[in-house]
Amino acid sequence: MRKKIVAGNWKMNKNTAEALELAQGLKGLVADVNGVEVVICPPFTLLAEVKKAIAGSNIKLGAQNMHTEEKGAFTGEISPLMLKDVGVEYVILGHSERREYFKETNEFINKKVKTAIKFGMTPILCVGEKLEEREAGITEKVVKDHVVGGFMDISKEDAAKVVVAYEPVWAIGTGKTASPEQAQEVHAFIRKLLEELYDKETAENITIQYGGSMNDANAKELMAKVDIDGGLIGGASLIADKFAVVVKSGI
Ligand code: PGA
Repeated sequence: MRKKIVAGNWKMNKNTAEALELAQGLKGLVADVNGVEVVICPPFTLLAEVKKAIAGSNIKLGAQNMHTEEKGAFTGEISPLMLKDVGVEYVILGHSERREYFKETNEFINKKVKTAIKFGMTPILCVGEKLEEREAGITEKVVKDHVVGGFMDISKEDAAKVVVAYEPVWAIGTGKTASPEQAQEVHAFIRKLLEELYDKETAENITIQYGGSMNDANAKELMAKVDIDGGLIGGASLIADKFAVVVKSGI
C-alpha cells in the first residue's frame, strides 16, 4: 500500500516568529493523525528552528530545493549534506517555479532526484503542464517529458523511493483547482507511465500527490480519487487550521 503524503510548500514566506507559530500550531492540530504523512517545507533559513519546534511530533521536515553537489564553489546554493545536517527528510525538486524562473531542466532535476536518493532523502518530483500546453492538447506529452526526464537512469529500487507531485501550472496559486476528474485522469496517466518504465508493483507503490490551489474546501474530493495520494500545498499551508483540514482530508 502506498503512503498518503500531504506536504506544505511554504515557498518564500514567513519570518522566524511566524514560522514557529505556524509549526507549533500545526503540531497540536495534527497530533492524532494516522495514515497520512505530514511534511512541512519552510525556506532554508528557517529549517533548523522549525526542526526544533516539531521535535517529537509526527511532522516531517522538507526543503524546497537542493543543489546536486556535496560542497564547494557554488555561491548561494545549499547541498544535500547541509539539508541532512538539519534533519531534512523530504526535498521538493523541479517545482514549476524553479523550472520557469530559474530555468531548471529535466536533466538537472534528474541529477537532483538521484542526489536526494543517494543521501537518503525523499525527493518530491514536481511535474505538470502550463495553461497554453493544456489548451494545445499536449498535457500528456509535457507530463511524460517531465516524468521520463525526472526518472532517467533511476533503478526500480530507487524509483520506489520517489514521490511525484502532479501540479498543473495553471492551478498553482490561481485559485483554479483542477477538477477531481481532470486531476485523476493525469494521475492515472502518470501511474501507467511508471508501470511502463518499471512494473505494475512499483507504479502502484509510488505516491502521486496533487498540487495547485488544493485547500481545506476541495482536498477531500481530490484525495477521494483512486490515484491521488495526498497533496503538495502552497497557499493553504501557511495557515495552520487550513493545512490541518487538508491533512485530515487524506485520512
Ligand atoms: P498553491 O501552490 O497551493 O498555492 O497553488 C502549490 C505549489 O506550488 O506547490
